[in-house]
Amino acid sequence: MLRLQINGEEIAVAAEARESLADVLRERLAMTGTHLGCEHGACGACTVEIDGRATRACLLLGAMAEGRRIATIEGLRDDPVMLVLRRHFHEKHALQCGFCTPGMLMMARDLLKRRTDLDEAAVRDGMAGQICRCTGYAGIVRAILEAARELRELGSSPA
Ligand code: FES
Ligand code: FES
Repeated sequence: MLRLQINGEEIAVAAEARESLADVLRERLAMTGTHLGCEHGACGACTVEIDGRATRACLLLGAMAEGRRIATIEGLRDDPVMLVLRRHFHEKHALQCGFCTPGMLMMARDLLKRRTDLDEAAVRDGMAGQICRCTGYAGIVRAILEAARELRELGSSPA
């Protein structure tokens, strides 16, 4: 039995010791907003937040996440940075099939929590570990730049 702190809730979940955090979230807890692509750390589809930092959930055993604060895309519906990001992803056509989108949003939020003075090169660099097979990235970069501009204007300081 694992005891995980997910989106502010203590959750006890029966899982095998060999199961990745991504599998525990998806298969045991039906939290399917965390996607699984490569399952070996290369695509970023499984990005969640652990102790305040973006982390690949496929590279971590569920057991290794005990005692740590986990946030998933499901827990960030009302997060102020995520609200701004989601609107700009929508407006700038930053998704097509949507498979990469939860991971993109989680990583972009991580980037914007740390700094909002981003130019295109900094966005591309910060998002370099996230793979999208559909969009060609232009809309994603535009959306994150616009979100950064809006957060700067709102005076949102990095966490
Ligand atoms: S599924 Fe985790 S990085 Fe690709
Ligand atoms: S929108 Fe399809 S993989 Fe990114």
